[in-house]
Amino acid sequence: MSQSSSSGRGLFSGNLGYVLAVAGSAVGLGNIWRFPYLAAKYGGGIFLLVYFLLLFTFGYALIMAETSLGRNTRLSPVGAYRSFADKQHPFLKIGGWLNAIVPMIILPYYCLIGGWIVKYMFEYVTGGSTAAATDGFFVGFITSNFTPVFWHLIFLGCTALIILKGVEKGVERASVVMMPILLILAFVVAVYSMTRPGAGAGIAYYLIPDFSKFSIMTVVAACGQLFFSLSVGMGILITYGSYMKKDVDVEKATIRIGFMDTTVAMLAGFMIIPAVFAFSGGDATAVNAGPGLMFITIPKVFASMGMGTFIGLAFFVMVFFAALTSSISILETCVSTLTDELKWSRKRATMFMFFEAIALGVPCSLGFGAWDFISIAGLSILDMMDFLASSILCPLCALLTCLLISRVVGIQKLIDEIKSSSAFRGENIFRFCVTYLAPVILTLVFLSSVAATLGFIKI
Ligand code: PHE
Repeated sequence: MSQSSSSGRGLFSGNLGYVLAVAGSAVGLGNIWRFPYLAAKYGGGIFLLVYFLLLFTFGYALIMAETSLGRNTRLSPVGAYRSFADKQHPFLKIGGWLNAIVPMIILPYYCLIGGWIVKYMFEYVTGGSTAAATDGFFVGFITSNFTPVFWHLIFLGCTALIILKGVEKGVERASVVMMPILLILAFVVAVYSMTRPGAGAGIAYYLIPDFSKFSIMTVVAACGQLFFSLSVGMGILITYGSYMKKDVDVEKATIRIGFMDTTVAMLAGFMIIPAVFAFSGGDATAVNAGPGLMFITIPKVFASMGMGTFIGLAFFVMVFFAALTSSISILETCVSTLTDELKWSRKRATMFMFFEAIALGVPCSLGFGAWDFISIAGLSILDMMDFLASSILCPLCALLTCLLISRVVGIQKLIDEIKSSSAFRGENIFRFCVTYLAPVILTLVFLSSVAATLGFIKI
């Protein structure tokens, strides 16, 4: 029988299910293509160092803050905010909805990219891996009007089917099956890539700090990456926290989640950077290819090596699992808001989000084809939605959550919530981070993103 709380709310079955579901949300496209590319761009080891420092302080604190807020209120973000926001802090009332809107913006384009991955997987299975590695394949694919939309629907459909099955039977089971396979595939591909001739220079480039590349933007970039990667600032962890049983050790679970997320990000660096180095004859700029790296460079790199089709398939299956467990968490959060706030059934909420993701996903796709004349500040429709959600709204939401906690809820209440199931060793760091460090860093990230939008600085 499936577990549910006294309010009839679905629950994760226990520690492992919870950890794998949140790690499933955290480990996604951000780890696999964004992390290696940023690490390469911002000075290798120095970026890693800053990233780790932020993870152990600010990152962990934000995960625990959102999780314990969710578990304490047993509500998705809108309800959680509403139950505390009072007359003195009316601005906090919008915080819940801001949190809830972020996943609704992310879902359409995340599933579109998910569809691109399914298309590549399909090519590798059906013998099209050589075609996928040819010049112009990727551009030809995303600029066509119908094909990407078809794959988008497939990926979105898979996500919706899992969500219809509920928290324990859908979200948890999918993560428990996919996450271990993902980790094994990540190891296999990383070992393969690191043992190619010429890979050593790439490993050195990845790990050895280049201090000349350090600037305040290293901190801003590491920070932006950190909370995109940890799925912080978009109500996801509040929602997942609301499905967490009262006896789960929040601190230990958080440490495991951070460990898994970082392991996959580091492994992705070990997969991509040495392989691209070996392929390009040591040309460091090849790693900076940005978004095209995964879909254009990587198939070429693998095609040029022995067992390339097999490794390429393993790579895209891994990325598919990573993307699917993340899109599940995005859709689940939207569905949770709609069922809690509008009292809709799970099925109705899922159907609504399905059509919303099509309505906004199709323009994102056409933005590369028939509608490519639409662009603001040089950004495509997809890039605009991503920038709005992850660079502007996420830091703002995380900031509001910190303010809600320190000004209204009271940090002690959440500390008590965490301590109700286990000891809390990092209590003082948690208190300091949520009250002081996180608001300062989040304001910095938010302002630098706004300045970048207005063209004052270049990230
Ligand atoms: N954390 C995911 C990643 O690293 C991205 C994500 C964003 C997941 C938004 C859920 C919600 O790719």
